[in-house]
Amino acid sequence: MKLIAAKDYDQMSQIAARYFAAQVLLKPTSVFGFATGSTPIGLYKELIRKNAEGKITFKYAHTVNLDEYYGMPRDHEQSYYSFMHANLFDHIDIDPANTRLPNGMAEDADAECRAYDEHIASLGGVDMQLLGIGHDGHIGFNEPSDHFSLGTNCVTLTEMTIEANKRFFASANDVPRKALTMGMREIMQAKKIVMVVNGKDKAQILYDSFCGPITPAVPASILQLHPDVTLVADEAALSVMKEHCKCCKCCK
Ligand code: PGA
Repeated sequence: MKLIAAKDYDQMSQIAARYFAAQVLLKPTSVFGFATGSTPIGLYKELIRKNAEGKITFKYAHTVNLDEYYGMPRDHEQSYYSFMHANLFDHIDIDPANTRLPNGMAEDADAECRAYDEHIASLGGVDMQLLGIGHDGHIGFNEPSDHFSLGTNCVTLTEMTIEANKRFFASANDVPRKALTMGMREIMQAKKIVMVVNGKDKAQILYDSFCGPITPAVPASILQLHPDVTLVADEAALSVMKEHCKCCKCCK
């Protein structure tokens, strides 16, 4: 893992955006794996700015997203489809036909998951995958478990995730209980992974993920096995790693 320490959220967003900008510049037909949540919003703003300034184009790029709530129509304001359009796709020159998220309204969730994996395979896999991390170590919606998932699958959200996401809904009861998420296989098969993390509340799980044992109880810990992960994190998120990591010198 390559670690880049940023002083704050804005610097984290700017640094991480440079990776995505460089990727699309070097390979205009890149396949991006995108993520939702609060963390990537600043990065997306940077990409929108660079695109508006004519520095990069997404005309030839494809995107797939990590996940979508299951049972939520895509025009719901809290769907990840709506999120991606509001925070990125509607403001850059990407062809909407080249963007795809799991269909949260698919009647047959398993068939949708298989079709999603086939779509990713037909694109030749993901060139650069963006990840955030949940407080319980989830990536995408791959929650702590006794095994690592493989392909795209339908998951039940943990109480911790429901608690974290209720800020976007009227109450915790309104947070969907299920989601479709890319599995660890497609995430780990991405050629490059860029993870963005900020805030003290993520410091312990970041330490557990990168300095602790590889275990499905901490889903992000599998990233220790990926050959090209760049972690861009602010000082607050790195505070536990900096103090306690003994496994390597990367975070000192
Ligand atoms: P957040 O979510 O960016 O809103 O903290 C991250 C995640 O759950 O993966």
